[in-house]
Amino acid sequence: VSRAWFLARAPQGRLRADDFELRDVDLPPVAENEVRCELLWLSIDAANRAWMQGATYRSAVTAGTPMPGLGLGRVVESRSPSHPVGTIVAGDLGWREQCVVEADDLEVVRGTRPLPEHLGVLGVSGLTAYFGLLRIGDPQPGETVVVSAAAGATGSLVGQMARIRGCRVVGLCGSPAKQRWLEDRLGYDVALDHRSDTLAADLKAACPDGVDVYFDNVGGPVLEGVLPRMRVGGRIVCCGVISQYDTDSPRPGPAGVPGLIVTRRLTMRGFIYTDFQAEFDAAQTEIAGWLDDGSLQVAQHVAEGLDRAPDALVDLLAGATRGKCLVRIAPETVVAHAG
Ligand SMILES: NC(=O)c1ccc[n+]([C@@H]2O[C@H](COP(=O)([O-])OP(=O)(O)OC[C@H]3O[C@@H](n4cnc5c(N)ncnc54)[C@H](OP(=O)(O)O)[C@@H]3O)[C@@H](O)[C@H]2O)c1
Repeated sequence: VSRAWFLARAPQGRLRADDFELRDVDLPPVAENEVRCELLWLSIDAANRAWMQGATYRSAVTAGTPMPGLGLGRVVESRSPSHPVGTIVAGDLGWREQCVVEADDLEVVRGTRPLPEHLGVLGVSGLTAYFGLLRIGDPQPGETVVVSAAAGATGSLVGQMARIRGCRVVGLCGSPAKQRWLEDRLGYDVALDHRSDTLAADLKAACPDGVDVYFDNVGGPVLEGVLPRMRVGGRIVCCGVISQYDTDSPRPGPAGVPGLIVTRRLTMRGFIYTDFQAEFDAAQTEIAGWLDDGSLQVAQHVAEGLDRAPDALVDLLAGATRGKCLVRIAPETVVAHAG
Protein backbone atom coordinates (compact mmCIF):
# COMPACT_ATOMS: atom_id res chain seq x y z
CA VAL A 1 0.00 0.00 0.00
CA SER A 2 1.21 3.52 -0.83
CA ARG A 3 -0.29 6.95 -0.19
CA ALA A 4 -1.05 8.87 -3.40
CA TRP A 5 -2.67 12.21 -4.25
CA PHE A 6 -5.65 12.18 -6.59
CA LEU A 7 -7.31 15.18 -8.26
CA ALA A 8 -10.66 14.85 -6.48
CA ARG A 9 -12.52 17.43 -8.58
CA ALA A 10 -11.83 19.75 -11.51
CA PRO A 11 -10.73 23.13 -10.09
CA GLN A 12 -13.40 25.84 -10.19
CA GLY A 13 -11.44 29.01 -10.95
CA ARG A 14 -8.20 29.06 -9.01
CA LEU A 15 -6.76 25.77 -7.79
CA ARG A 16 -7.31 24.98 -4.10
CA ALA A 17 -5.46 22.45 -1.97
CA ASP A 18 -8.78 20.73 -1.20
CA ASP A 19 -9.27 19.96 -4.90
CA PHE A 20 -6.93 17.05 -4.11
CA GLU A 21 -7.49 13.93 -2.00
CA LEU A 22 -4.87 11.69 -0.38
CA ARG A 23 -5.75 8.02 -0.73
CA ASP A 24 -4.19 4.64 0.06
CA VAL A 25 -3.58 2.65 -3.11
CA ASP A 26 -2.58 -0.97 -3.55
CA LEU A 27 0.69 -1.38 -5.39
CA PRO A 28 0.58 -3.99 -8.16
CA PRO A 29 3.18 -6.78 -8.15
CA VAL A 30 6.35 -5.91 -10.03
CA ALA A 31 6.20 -7.47 -13.51
CA GLU A 32 9.04 -8.30 -15.91
CA ASN A 33 11.00 -5.11 -16.86
CA GLU A 34 9.29 -3.11 -14.09
CA VAL A 35 10.64 -1.63 -10.87
CA ARG A 36 9.13 -0.44 -7.60
CA CYS A 37 10.42 2.96 -6.54
CA GLU A 38 10.36 4.85 -3.30
CA LEU A 39 9.90 8.57 -4.01
CA LEU A 40 12.60 10.92 -2.71
CA TRP A 41 11.77 14.27 -4.35
CA LEU A 42 8.84 15.64 -6.31
CA SER A 43 9.06 18.50 -8.80
CA ILE A 44 6.19 21.00 -8.56
CA ASP A 45 5.70 22.71 -11.91
CA ALA A 46 3.41 25.36 -13.36
CA ALA A 47 2.50 22.82 -16.03
CA ASN A 48 0.83 20.62 -13.36
CA ARG A 49 -2.05 23.13 -13.38
CA ALA A 50 -2.16 23.39 -17.20
CA TRP A 51 -2.66 19.60 -17.39
CA MET A 52 -5.99 20.07 -15.56
CA GLN A 53 -7.28 22.39 -18.31
CA GLY A 54 -7.23 19.71 -21.00
CA ALA A 55 -4.84 17.77 -23.21
CA THR A 56 -1.52 19.54 -23.78
CA TYR A 57 1.67 17.75 -24.79
CA ARG A 58 0.31 15.03 -22.51
CA SER A 59 -3.19 13.77 -21.75
CA ALA A 60 -5.39 15.84 -19.43
CA VAL A 61 -5.52 15.24 -15.71
CA THR A 62 -9.21 14.78 -14.92
CA ALA A 63 -11.21 14.47 -11.70
CA GLY A 64 -10.71 11.13 -9.98
CA THR A 65 -7.31 10.37 -11.51
CA PRO A 66 -3.96 10.05 -9.69
CA MET A 67 -1.83 13.18 -9.92
CA PRO A 68 1.17 12.74 -12.23
CA GLY A 69 4.41 14.63 -11.75
CA LEU A 70 8.14 14.44 -12.28
CA GLY A 71 10.07 12.97 -9.40
CA LEU A 72 13.25 11.33 -8.23
CA GLY A 73 13.13 7.92 -6.63
CA ARG A 74 15.19 4.99 -5.49
CA VAL A 75 14.57 1.48 -6.83
CA VAL A 76 13.58 -0.78 -3.92
CA GLU A 77 12.44 -3.83 -5.93
CA SER A 78 13.49 -4.68 -9.45
CA ARG A 79 12.77 -7.04 -12.31
CA SER A 80 14.96 -5.03 -14.68
CA PRO A 81 18.67 -5.90 -15.03
CA SER A 82 19.46 -2.31 -16.06
CA HIS A 83 17.83 -0.84 -12.90
CA PRO A 84 19.02 -2.86 -9.88
CA VAL A 85 17.86 -2.14 -6.33
CA GLY A 86 19.44 1.11 -5.14
CA THR A 87 19.45 2.82 -8.57
CA ILE A 88 18.36 6.46 -8.43
CA VAL A 89 15.91 7.28 -11.18
CA ALA A 90 14.00 10.26 -12.55
CA GLY A 91 10.70 10.24 -14.42
CA ASP A 92 6.96 10.68 -14.13
CA LEU A 93 6.63 8.92 -10.78
CA GLY A 94 3.53 10.82 -9.65
CA TRP A 95 2.48 12.48 -6.39
CA ARG A 96 2.90 9.39 -4.21
CA GLU A 97 5.22 7.62 -1.81
CA GLN A 98 5.86 4.52 -3.93
CA CYS A 99 5.10 3.48 -7.49
CA VAL A 100 5.55 0.55 -9.85
CA VAL A 101 6.73 1.65 -13.30
CA GLU A 102 8.29 0.39 -16.53
CA ALA A 103 12.07 0.62 -16.19
CA ASP A 104 12.39 1.89 -19.78
CA ASP A 105 10.37 5.00 -18.86
CA LEU A 106 12.96 6.03 -16.27
CA GLU A 107 16.20 7.95 -16.60
CA VAL A 108 19.06 6.70 -14.41
CA VAL A 109 20.54 9.57 -12.39
CA ARG A 110 24.33 9.60 -12.34
CA GLY A 111 26.98 11.85 -10.85
CA THR A 112 27.56 13.35 -7.45
CA ARG A 113 25.63 16.61 -7.61
CA PRO A 114 22.85 17.14 -5.04
CA LEU A 115 19.82 15.06 -6.04
CA PRO A 116 17.24 17.88 -6.33
CA GLU A 117 19.38 19.56 -9.01
CA HIS A 118 18.39 16.70 -11.33
CA LEU A 119 14.81 18.00 -11.22
CA GLY A 120 15.80 21.66 -11.39
CA VAL A 121 18.88 23.13 -12.96
CA LEU A 122 20.01 19.83 -14.57
CA GLY A 123 16.43 18.69 -15.21
CA VAL A 124 13.25 20.18 -16.61
CA SER A 125 13.91 23.80 -15.54
CA GLY A 126 17.51 24.05 -16.66
CA LEU A 127 16.95 22.23 -19.95
CA THR A 128 13.91 24.37 -20.73
CA ALA A 129 15.85 27.55 -20.03
CA TYR A 130 18.90 26.33 -21.98
CA PHE A 131 17.19 25.18 -25.18
CA GLY A 132 14.49 27.84 -25.18
CA LEU A 133 16.94 30.67 -24.75
CA LEU A 134 19.97 29.48 -26.66
CA ARG A 135 18.31 27.56 -29.53
CA ILE A 136 15.06 29.44 -30.04
CA GLY A 137 15.97 32.90 -28.75
CA ASP A 138 19.56 32.72 -30.08
CA PRO A 139 20.72 35.80 -28.11
CA GLN A 140 23.87 37.58 -29.24
CA PRO A 141 26.31 39.42 -26.94
CA GLY A 142 25.09 42.95 -26.27
CA GLU A 143 21.47 42.19 -27.11
CA THR A 144 18.62 42.89 -24.70
CA VAL A 145 16.79 39.84 -23.30
CA VAL A 146 13.55 40.17 -21.33
CA VAL A 147 12.21 37.20 -19.35
CA SER A 148 8.90 36.89 -17.49
CA ALA A 149 8.28 34.83 -14.32
CA ALA A 150 11.93 35.79 -13.93
CA ALA A 151 12.25 34.66 -10.31
CA GLY A 152 10.69 31.25 -10.98
CA ALA A 153 12.36 27.91 -11.65
CA THR A 154 12.75 28.43 -15.39
CA GLY A 155 13.00 32.21 -15.51
CA SER A 156 15.70 32.54 -12.85
CA LEU A 157 17.95 30.35 -15.02
CA VAL A 158 17.04 32.02 -18.32
CA GLY A 159 18.20 35.43 -17.11
CA GLN A 160 21.47 34.07 -15.76
CA MET A 161 22.19 32.14 -18.96
CA ALA A 162 21.49 35.31 -20.98
CA ARG A 163 23.95 37.16 -18.76
CA ILE A 164 26.54 34.41 -19.32
CA ARG A 165 26.02 34.99 -23.07
CA GLY A 166 26.88 38.68 -22.55
CA CYS A 167 23.37 40.09 -22.89
CA ARG A 168 21.62 42.91 -21.08
CA VAL A 169 18.95 41.18 -18.97
CA VAL A 170 15.60 42.56 -17.82
CA GLY A 171 13.39 40.40 -15.60
CA LEU A 172 9.66 40.71 -14.91
CA CYS A 173 8.40 39.42 -11.57
CA GLY A 174 5.68 39.86 -8.99
CA SER A 175 7.14 41.49 -5.86
CA PRO A 176 9.72 44.05 -4.71
CA ALA A 177 11.56 41.29 -2.81
CA LYS A 178 11.91 39.26 -6.00
CA GLN A 179 13.06 42.39 -7.90
CA ARG A 180 15.83 42.97 -5.35
CA TRP A 181 16.85 39.29 -5.44
CA LEU A 182 17.13 39.29 -9.24
CA GLU A 183 19.19 42.47 -9.32
CA ASP A 184 21.38 41.95 -6.25
CA ARG A 185 21.93 38.16 -6.29
CA LEU A 186 21.36 36.91 -9.82
CA GLY A 187 22.93 39.78 -11.73
CA TYR A 188 19.90 40.98 -13.68
CA ASP A 189 20.47 44.51 -15.00
CA VAL A 190 16.92 45.56 -14.15
CA ALA A 191 13.91 43.81 -12.61
CA LEU A 192 10.40 45.20 -13.05
CA ASP A 193 7.05 44.45 -11.41
CA HIS A 194 4.75 42.82 -13.96
CA ARG A 195 1.70 44.00 -12.00
CA SER A 196 2.67 47.68 -12.11
CA ASP A 197 0.22 50.09 -13.79
CA THR A 198 3.27 51.68 -15.40
CA LEU A 199 4.69 48.45 -16.89
CA ALA A 200 4.71 49.83 -20.47
CA ALA A 201 6.62 52.96 -19.43
CA ASP A 202 8.91 50.94 -17.13
CA LEU A 203 9.78 48.61 -20.02
CA LYS A 204 10.49 51.57 -22.29
CA ALA A 205 12.85 53.03 -19.71
CA ALA A 206 14.56 49.68 -19.05
CA CYS A 207 14.92 48.82 -22.76
CA PRO A 208 15.47 52.16 -24.51
CA ASP A 209 16.71 50.47 -27.70
CA GLY A 210 13.98 47.81 -27.65
CA VAL A 211 13.96 44.07 -26.92
CA ASP A 212 15.84 41.54 -29.05
CA VAL A 213 14.68 38.37 -27.28
CA TYR A 214 11.59 37.97 -25.11
CA PHE A 215 11.43 34.65 -23.21
CA ASP A 216 7.72 34.38 -22.49
CA ASN A 217 6.68 32.22 -19.55
CA VAL A 218 3.37 33.93 -18.89
CA GLY A 219 1.48 35.09 -22.04
CA GLY A 220 -1.55 37.34 -21.42
CA PRO A 221 -1.17 41.03 -20.53
CA VAL A 222 2.60 40.76 -19.98
CA LEU A 223 3.16 39.46 -23.53
CA GLU A 224 0.88 42.23 -24.75
CA GLY A 225 3.04 44.72 -22.83
CA VAL A 226 6.35 43.49 -24.26
CA LEU A 227 5.23 43.10 -27.91
CA PRO A 228 5.34 46.83 -28.76
CA ARG A 229 8.89 47.04 -27.36
CA MET A 230 10.26 44.30 -29.67
CA ARG A 231 12.96 45.41 -32.11
CA VAL A 232 12.82 44.62 -35.81
CA GLY A 233 14.01 41.01 -36.21
CA GLY A 234 13.28 40.17 -32.55
CA ARG A 235 12.59 36.65 -31.33
CA ILE A 236 9.81 35.67 -28.90
CA VAL A 237 10.41 32.34 -27.18
CA CYS A 238 6.97 30.89 -26.34
CA CYS A 239 7.74 28.71 -23.33
CA GLY A 240 4.47 28.79 -21.40
CA VAL A 241 1.34 30.76 -20.54
CA ILE A 242 1.16 30.67 -16.75
CA SER A 243 -1.11 33.74 -16.56
CA GLN A 244 -3.82 31.63 -18.22
CA TYR A 245 -3.37 28.31 -16.34
CA ASP A 246 -5.06 28.94 -12.99
CA THR A 247 -8.51 29.69 -14.37
CA ASP A 248 -11.37 27.99 -16.18
CA SER A 249 -11.76 30.92 -18.58
CA PRO A 250 -8.40 31.63 -20.28
CA ARG A 251 -8.27 35.02 -21.98
CA PRO A 252 -7.88 35.33 -25.75
CA GLY A 253 -5.05 37.46 -27.04
CA PRO A 254 -2.67 39.08 -27.23
CA ALA A 255 -3.60 42.27 -29.05
CA GLY A 256 -1.01 43.29 -31.65
CA VAL A 257 -0.80 39.82 -33.22
CA PRO A 258 -0.24 39.39 -36.10
CA GLY A 259 0.19 43.12 -36.96
CA LEU A 260 3.34 43.71 -34.91
CA ILE A 261 4.81 40.36 -35.99
CA VAL A 262 4.60 41.52 -39.61
CA THR A 263 5.86 45.05 -39.26
CA ARG A 264 8.69 44.16 -36.84
CA ARG A 265 9.58 40.92 -38.71
CA LEU A 266 9.34 39.01 -35.45
CA THR A 267 9.74 35.29 -34.97
CA MET A 268 7.45 33.71 -32.36
CA ARG A 269 8.24 30.05 -31.74
CA GLY A 270 7.00 27.54 -29.23
CA PHE A 271 8.85 24.48 -27.99
CA ILE A 272 8.75 21.67 -25.43
CA TYR A 273 12.12 20.96 -23.85
CA THR A 274 11.91 17.27 -24.77
CA ASP A 275 12.18 18.35 -28.45
CA PHE A 276 15.92 18.51 -27.69
CA GLN A 277 16.25 15.14 -25.92
CA ALA A 278 19.14 14.02 -28.12
CA GLU A 279 21.22 16.95 -26.84
CA PHE A 280 20.45 16.65 -23.11
CA ASP A 281 23.86 15.21 -22.16
CA ALA A 282 25.80 18.01 -23.83
CA ALA A 283 23.52 20.66 -22.30
CA GLN A 284 23.82 19.13 -18.81
CA THR A 285 27.62 19.12 -19.14
CA GLU A 286 27.66 22.82 -20.05
CA ILE A 287 25.20 23.71 -17.27
CA ALA A 288 27.24 21.70 -14.70
CA GLY A 289 30.29 23.71 -15.79
CA TRP A 290 28.47 26.96 -15.00
CA LEU A 291 27.50 25.57 -11.59
CA ASP A 292 31.09 24.54 -10.91
CA ASP A 293 32.58 27.92 -11.86
CA GLY A 294 29.92 29.81 -9.92
CA SER A 295 28.43 31.66 -12.88
CA LEU A 296 25.01 30.04 -12.33
CA GLN A 297 23.19 30.27 -8.99
CA VAL A 298 20.33 27.95 -8.06
CA ALA A 299 17.52 28.68 -5.66
CA GLN A 300 15.06 26.14 -4.28
CA HIS A 301 11.80 26.33 -2.40
CA VAL A 302 11.40 23.06 -0.49
CA ALA A 303 8.11 21.88 1.03
CA GLU A 304 8.46 19.02 3.50
CA GLY A 305 6.51 15.80 3.02
CA LEU A 306 4.02 14.38 0.53
CA ASP A 307 1.15 15.93 2.49
CA ARG A 308 2.37 19.41 1.39
CA ALA A 309 2.30 18.77 -2.38
CA PRO A 310 -1.08 20.46 -3.10
CA ASP A 311 -0.14 23.52 -1.01
CA ALA A 312 3.19 23.74 -2.83
CA LEU A 313 1.45 23.91 -6.23
CA VAL A 314 -1.06 26.49 -4.97
CA ASP A 315 1.87 28.55 -3.62
CA LEU A 316 3.77 28.33 -6.92
CA LEU A 317 0.75 29.55 -8.89
CA ALA A 318 0.26 32.43 -6.44
CA GLY A 319 3.87 33.58 -6.83
CA ALA A 320 4.79 32.59 -3.27
CA THR A 321 7.81 30.50 -4.32
CA ARG A 322 11.20 31.54 -5.66
CA GLY A 323 13.43 29.36 -7.80
CA LYS A 324 12.68 25.64 -8.16
CA CYS A 325 9.69 24.38 -6.17
CA LEU A 326 10.21 20.88 -4.74
CA VAL A 327 8.63 18.53 -2.25
CA ARG A 328 10.94 16.37 -0.18
CA ILE A 329 9.13 13.04 0.14
CA ALA A 330 11.75 11.03 2.02
CA PRO A 331 14.78 12.12 4.03
CA GLU A 332 17.76 12.64 1.73
CA THR A 333 19.79 9.64 2.80
CA VAL A 334 21.29 9.00 -0.62
CA VAL A 335 23.38 10.89 -3.13
CA ALA A 336 23.48 10.13 -6.82
CA HIS A 337 25.86 7.31 -7.61
CA ALA A 338 28.74 7.79 -9.94
CA GLY A 339 28.38 4.52 -11.85
N1 LIG B 1 7.98 24.56 -22.91
C1 LIG B 1 8.49 23.75 -22.00
O1 LIG B 1 9.09 22.70 -22.30
C2 LIG B 1 8.35 24.12 -20.55
C3 LIG B 1 8.98 23.36 -19.55
C4 LIG B 1 8.87 23.78 -18.21
C5 LIG B 1 8.12 24.93 -17.91
N2 LIG B 1 7.52 25.62 -18.93
C6 LIG B 1 6.75 26.83 -18.65
O2 LIG B 1 7.60 27.73 -17.97
C7 LIG B 1 6.80 28.63 -17.19
C8 LIG B 1 7.35 28.67 -15.77
O3 LIG B 1 7.11 27.40 -15.17
P1 LIG B 1 7.84 26.95 -13.84
O4 LIG B 1 7.37 25.57 -13.58
O5 LIG B 1 9.30 27.26 -13.95
O6 LIG B 1 7.15 27.87 -12.74
P2 LIG B 1 7.78 29.07 -11.88
O7 LIG B 1 8.28 30.10 -12.83
O8 LIG B 1 8.67 28.55 -10.84
O9 LIG B 1 6.50 29.63 -11.13
C9 LIG B 1 5.58 30.35 -11.80
C10 LIG B 1 5.70 31.85 -11.56
O10 LIG B 1 4.85 32.52 -12.47
C11 LIG B 1 4.50 33.76 -11.95
N3 LIG B 1 3.09 34.03 -12.25
C12 LIG B 1 2.00 33.41 -11.75
N4 LIG B 1 0.89 33.95 -12.28
C13 LIG B 1 1.30 34.94 -13.11
C14 LIG B 1 0.61 35.88 -13.92
N5 LIG B 1 -0.73 35.91 -13.99
N6 LIG B 1 1.34 36.76 -14.64
C15 LIG B 1 2.69 36.75 -14.57
N7 LIG B 1 3.39 35.89 -13.82
C16 LIG B 1 2.70 35.00 -13.08
C17 LIG B 1 4.74 33.70 -10.44
O11 LIG B 1 5.81 34.58 -10.12
P3 LIG B 1 5.61 36.17 -9.79
O12 LIG B 1 5.63 36.30 -8.30
O13 LIG B 1 6.80 36.76 -10.42
O14 LIG B 1 4.32 36.61 -10.40
C18 LIG B 1 5.21 32.28 -10.20
O15 LIG B 1 6.23 32.20 -9.24
C19 LIG B 1 5.35 28.09 -17.28
O16 LIG B 1 4.65 28.81 -18.26
C20 LIG B 1 5.56 26.65 -17.74
O17 LIG B 1 4.45 26.15 -18.41
C21 LIG B 1 7.61 25.22 -20.22
